[in-house]
Amino acid sequence: MTARYAVIGNPIEHSKSPLIHQAFARETAQDISYERILAPLDAFPEVIATLVTAGYGGANVTVPFKLEAFALANRLTERAHDAGAVNTLVFDGADIVGDNTDGVGLVTDIQNNLHVDLAGKRILLIGAGGAAEGVLHPLLEQRPSLLVIANRTLDKALRMVKRIEEQGDFRYVSVNAYAFDDLQGQSFDVVINATSAGLSDSSLPLPAGIFAPGALAYDMMYGRETPFMVFARAHGAAQIADGLGMLVEQAAEAFMLWRGVRPQTAPVIAQLRT
Ligand code: ATR
Repeated sequence: MTARYAVIGNPIEHSKSPLIHQAFARETAQDISYERILAPLDAFPEVIATLVTAGYGGANVTVPFKLEAFALANRLTERAHDAGAVNTLVFDGADIVGDNTDGVGLVTDIQNNLHVDLAGKRILLIGAGGAAEGVLHPLLEQRPSLLVIANRTLDKALRMVKRIEEQGDFRYVSVNAYAFDDLQGQSFDVVINATSAGLSDSSLPLPAGIFAPGALAYDMMYGRETPFMVFARAHGAAQIADGLGMLVEQAAEAFMLWRGVRPQTAPVIAQLRT
């Protein structure tokens, strides 16, 4: 019997997840269907209940429902708990298991696809919203030497750093919060844009010397070159990436959870780029 999955969001029509999961299914000879579902903004739990009743195996959750999915799950993986948000649900009998594969998707894309080892590196994470929160722990687990969170609203970055300090798990990494003005005179090996500034084509007030020699500039957005990527090209980043690889890698991790097989990601990333 065909196992059913879906991605739920609002809006959802531009989601590439069905393409990605259908490609994974072909490659691994899994009999699945995967569709887009537009949930009304006030009816996410009802949509999930319908899927459970209909016998779906699980679902991906995207904007703006990742916090609701976190609240709805009655079992959370450790990485969902750390991220404070859920992007993958597994319907396991009476249980709704919440996981978060975004962080591992980012780290896998950077390390396996872009061949940048994060251990010992100086990382700048720009943004302190849900997207930044979701990837913070997985980045710290790679043992960078320094991780700076820079945000337009300094308070939010300070709160993220405080939570990390209170948890006490990452004493081997220096973790600091900066306002954009504090970045003057600093340079980083890996600069990750986790803000939504690109959505409105806004640029970020970054100093010219922010990219160390050989630096990677990574924008978690995909689909077009953002002002951050243009800035990185003009200011000496050695490698510039958008978030398409992260999208495919987080999907692969979800597919693995659901189907127990790990699909090849490189052919799917290449296919989506053409
Ligand atoms: P998401 O879930 O995408 O992270 P969010 O929680 O609303 O969405 O967070 C958006 C992030 O992008 C925040 O870090 C926000 O900065 P503020 O905390 O100061 O609001 C950042 N952001 C959005 N637009 C921006 C802009 N034009 N310049 C700088 N930062 C911006």
